[in-house]
Amino acid sequence: MNSKFYITSPIYYVNDIPHIGHAYTTIIVDTLARFHRLKDKSVFCLTGTDEHGQKIEQSAQKKGQNPKDYVDTIAERFKSLWDAFGINYDYFIRTTDSTHQQSAQYVFLKMYKKGDIYKGEYEGNYCISCESFFAKSQLAGEKSCPDCSKETILLKEESYFFKLSAYTDKLLKFYDENPNFILPKSRRNEVINFVKSGLEDLSITRTSFNWGIKLPKELLENHPSNQKHVMYVWLDALVNYLSALGFHNDLENKMDFWPANYHIVGKDILRFHAIYWIAFLMSLDLPLPKHIAAHGWWTKDGAKMSKSVGNVVNPKEVVDAYGLDAFRYFVLREVPFGQDGDFSQNALIERINADLGNDLGNLLNRLLGMGAKYFNNTLKADLSELKTTYCEELAQIQALLNSLESYMNEVQTHRYLEELWKLFSLGNATIAKKEPWQLIKANKHAEVAQLLLLITNILLKAALFLSPCMPKSANKILKVFGLSANAENFKRFITQGEILDSIILEPTPALFPRIEEKLLQDIKIECTKLEPLEITNPISKEDFTKIDLRIGTIINAEVLPKSEKLLKLQVDLGEARPRQILAGIKAHYTPQDLLGKQVCVLANLKPAKLIGEISEGMLLATSDNEGLSFITPQNKRKNGSKIS
Ligand code: MSP
Repeated sequence: MNSKFYITSPIYYVNDIPHIGHAYTTIIVDTLARFHRLKDKSVFCLTGTDEHGQKIEQSAQKKGQNPKDYVDTIAERFKSLWDAFGINYDYFIRTTDSTHQQSAQYVFLKMYKKGDIYKGEYEGNYCISCESFFAKSQLAGEKSCPDCSKETILLKEESYFFKLSAYTDKLLKFYDENPNFILPKSRRNEVINFVKSGLEDLSITRTSFNWGIKLPKELLENHPSNQKHVMYVWLDALVNYLSALGFHNDLENKMDFWPANYHIVGKDILRFHAIYWIAFLMSLDLPLPKHIAAHGWWTKDGAKMSKSVGNVVNPKEVVDAYGLDAFRYFVLREVPFGQDGDFSQNALIERINADLGNDLGNLLNRLLGMGAKYFNNTLKADLSELKTTYCEELAQIQALLNSLESYMNEVQTHRYLEELWKLFSLGNATIAKKEPWQLIKANKHAEVAQLLLLITNILLKAALFLSPCMPKSANKILKVFGLSANAENFKRFITQGEILDSIILEPTPALFPRIEEKLLQDIKIECTKLEPLEITNPISKEDFTKIDLRIGTIINAEVLPKSEKLLKLQVDLGEARPRQILAGIKAHYTPQDLLGKQVCVLANLKPAKLIGEISEGMLLATSDNEGLSFITPQNKRKNGSKIS
């Protein structure tokens, strides 16, 4: 029996239209799924939509729709986008499916019966946008969400809790025993440190709104007050990975796919998967997923994409303009997996013209051009002579191909493609070295046929490996050789290493015509048109770089009896000695308020003498009718860190 391979994307919130970030996650998932299908695995590829929670209830209200009608419309947009993008998913899950609700209720009851869920009262800060609870110590400033900076709300309500804290040691042991569980490995410490810093029990029900899954009926029967609880949206959402496999619900049971090989997620939701999800699964006594792979974020021209700024990149428009495979290649190749990447049309065009056009397209064109001109498309050579002449090249090709799988296993799609491209360079370099046009003049047709068969073998093997990333283009290349991307051919040409010694080429038009200029005016502003704003007193970037702004910690503060306004501060900027700064903030702060606080300092202000004391910098502050507030970094930073 073929071995099983289960891969999932996150399920997308339906309060948003699909954007490039969503497309990126889904394309990575689709690529890995295709790769494992090629390897003849039995694959289950899952995507879907996350449709409950306060955020979605509010979005529906804003549109004047009832939540179900609202989620039906948006879920359809995701589904039809993935269909248009040829995403080869096996199941599209929606958390409003009744089968999913059955699984979620089963999970709740099982964890409850195990003694991992108890009733209590939740009091704390909640970010509706991230659907996350935060302890006071985690907040940015007074009440802002540490993840998205939006204001959190103070919640006090009856709630069921999951005993997350009880899983601390088990979790740490699991990470320790499975060093490749979190990918890229560089993100591992972030999760371990979070767990080590102390896990609080997790509030897993809410009573202040309705749009969620009710508790299992066994918990409602004798406790009517439980009617008011709905499940916390993250518990509901994470269970999707099981419910899609028919876990205790009416769907066909496919639990033989469990545990998942990969949950692909964005870095912002790694914690939910690597900590909460694993603890839930431990509580359910289920095997744990093999990998959680977290990618970075896409920005647009260096800025975070957001609806309100109006800089959201619509992947459909990019694909309509530049082609699906070019887009897939770009997102998979451009950024090292795990790091953030910036989307720009120039970078995309550069990849299309250089990598796709010059390297790959050119090699194919040269083969087709010479094949038609010199051999009327029919190539033939003696296999053992071919192997002898190109012994070194064939060994290099094999070594390169052998290295590819491990990159895919680590979700390093950029490295995978980078290595794959070395095959095209090898092909182009061998043509340049052999100068077949001279060989033809010297009547050495057999040598040219051999060379073109080497190129044929390079292209067909490379196209098989390219097919998970660029399915359509790879199949166009393979069609030139009368082949297609499937497990049988993968076995024949890769696993068994067959080399073709004859072929009839079937010409195809150029795959990646050169792009001379941007095809989209500018990446379309999706939601709001930006009205020009009047900027008062504009300065250039160069002007700004003259200003040396730094983070420092106030290590001493004292009142100056001679001054009504000034406090004398000693601020540690990571220098040989603290800076003395006189700040006009006496009316707003006492020295005790300031001790230990981090502040932003203008560090290259010329020192000045005020009431006989030297001042060596300036504290940044803002004031409005509520008073004055100095500026402080969102998270603690090293003293002396530069602000840019
Ligand atoms: N519903 C939750 C996931 C639940 S999974 C059990 C959620 N949804 S989301 O729609 O907000 O985000 C889905 C995915 O899109 C996340 O992996 C997130 O990282 C990714 N992206 C959203 N914006 C992104 C970028 N700008 N760039 C790259 N990916 C980002 O979280």
